[in-house]
Amino acid sequence: MKMSSLLFGLMTCVLSATAFAQQPIVIKFSHVVAKDTPKGLAAEYFAKKADELTKGKVKVEVYANSTLYKDKEEMEALQLGAVQMLAPSLAKFGPLGVKEFEVFDLPYIFDDYNDLHKVTQGPVGQQLLSKLEPKGIRGLAYWDNGFKSFSLNSPIKAPADLKGKKMRIQSSKVLEEQMRALGALPQVMAFSEVYQALQTGVVDGTENPISNLYTQKMHEVQKHLTITDHGYLGYAVIVNKKFWDGLPADVRGQLETAMKESTAYANKMAKEQNDKDLESVKKSGKTTVYVPTKEERMAFKKVLVPVHQKMESRIGKEIIQNVYKETGFDPNSL
Ligand code: LMR
Repeated sequence: MKMSSLLFGLMTCVLSATAFAQQPIVIKFSHVVAKDTPKGLAAEYFAKKADELTKGKVKVEVYANSTLYKDKEEMEALQLGAVQMLAPSLAKFGPLGVKEFEVFDLPYIFDDYNDLHKVTQGPVGQQLLSKLEPKGIRGLAYWDNGFKSFSLNSPIKAPADLKGKKMRIQSSKVLEEQMRALGALPQVMAFSEVYQALQTGVVDGTENPISNLYTQKMHEVQKHLTITDHGYLGYAVIVNKKFWDGLPADVRGQLETAMKESTAYANKMAKEQNDKDLESVKKSGKTTVYVPTKEERMAFKKVLVPVHQKMESRIGKEIIQNVYKETGFDPNSL
């Protein structure tokens, strides 16, 4: 071989090795909600922080609005390693076999974000995340969205107003039982299909934090929204464990910092975002927003809190009791 071609070969090798060394690690982060929701904004924030803190070594690609995967598919994609990061709602872990997360769906178990944070930021929250490990998943954080309200095309002032109504729910047995307690007919459906199902009458109503309702334009096809705040909807940020454990230790540390900062951001902004979207729903003039009186709220509580005991055998009595201990909730006080 001539000296010049040997040199050329050597140089190509060096150049491609350098190019390879500079290839960023890609994290595909798939989710199902709009970009301008608490989860959408927090995911973008994480992507920015990850880029900054790893100095470009990690590139987080965020796919919003079910553009990559829908609810059920995204869980499978994570386990297969087709995506590396997700933030599914806590109501969507049952089908994975981790039913304990459905404790977060119990109606009225949290009075407000303060109560909730005692759980998500305490030992019970950590214990729940650790249950994901045998599924090949690492739980990194909890991100808030907010408290759900019922919507329909007819007014909702009392539990009886939901009787016989077809209500879309997330894939949680607790939510199923909650709707049955109201005499409603629960229908599990992927988030991406809800708007159309409401529009065409496949379902009559749904329950959502306002940010989800507004950004999917569901308020345009629901004439009545009652601020029941009857249950919580938030997220666990999860990664493929094999991928995460395989990252260089320094990079993983930087990503952990990015996640901490993003979690603080997410949990600070979620309530503001929901409040802002409620104002936009009101301004749209398409939906009548009703705030129940104290007595009306109590009537919903009386019907829905018994769901806690009914679901004990599914979620585990101990976990429910541990949540009560953290928040001070007493189901017998009603
Ligand atoms: C829903 O399906 O209603 C929510 O879980 C969507 C989401 O991710 O907030």
